[in-house]
Amino acid sequence: MAEIIGGLGTSHVPSIAAAIDKGLADTAEWKPFFDGYLPARQWMLDHKPDIAVVIFNDHGNAFFLDKIPTLAVGVADSYPPIDEGWGPRALPDFAGARDFSWHLVDQLVENHFDPLVCRELEVDHGLQVPMELFFGRPEVWPVQVVPILVNTIQYPIPTPQRMWDLGRVLRGAIESWATHEKVVILGTGGLSHQLQGSRAGFINRQADRAWLAEIGPHPDKYLAMSREDYVEVFGSEGAELIMWLVMRGALSETVRTVHSHYCAPVSMTGAGMVILENAVAGS
Ligand code: DHB
Ligand code: FE
Repeated sequence: MAEIIGGLGTSHVPSIAAAIDKGLADTAEWKPFFDGYLPARQWMLDHKPDIAVVIFNDHGNAFFLDKIPTLAVGVADSYPPIDEGWGPRALPDFAGARDFSWHLVDQLVENHFDPLVCRELEVDHGLQVPMELFFGRPEVWPVQVVPILVNTIQYPIPTPQRMWDLGRVLRGAIESWATHEKVVILGTGGLSHQLQGSRAGFINRQADRAWLAEIGPHPDKYLAMSREDYVEVFGSEGAELIMWLVMRGALSETVRTVHSHYCAPVSMTGAGMVILENAVAGS
């Protein structure tokens, strides 16, 4: 069986990509942010996952407002990074884990999740930025990816409980795969931000810090929150945080928080990251 070796949550703010592209990562403004990711880069080097299951939302790039799937899964051999309007980025394509992805789709449907199945898919900053933060700029990405896209941009978005349940089903699906790949789950989005309306620029540092501290040991309170609560507490786009619940739901009941990092403001957001590992059975 394939094994889930851990879960990482991270923001995916597009200005992070712009900072890397412009060579600003070592500037006084950006260094504290990027330094916070060094433990995650080291964790990846130490644990060497084979496959990253990346939970993210498209931002009107692969899908537009005319057609938005609530849930979509990529089953391609390769996913090109999408040009979001600033020109092509110097990133290699992301290799897909095609057969493994089809197995996940089959098991999702078996367990009453019915995704849009994407044989072709370009991926935006929701996947690009986490991959760059965790793996740098290699010539070839060291992991294959399974993109899992959740609608968080046009209401109604799915419920927190549904995201948790999706994580549980993914765990069973991953563990029922025949061969022995090491799988890491990446939950992306957030933290608090609102890009529009009268609360544009809203950041809730206290709630962000609480989220980072509690998503490992006490996820229940975040399952009990409604979608409206997420908008209220984290901002309309901060509701992207529901995708971290997929990652958390895929891990065991008890987890260890290996590292967390918070920086605000980054662009117009609170930005953060957490590394979670399954607690050893019985501990
Ligand atoms: C921005 C966009 C995002 O998708 C996000 O998650 C955070 C910030 C932005 O445009 O600033
Ligand atoms: Fe986003």
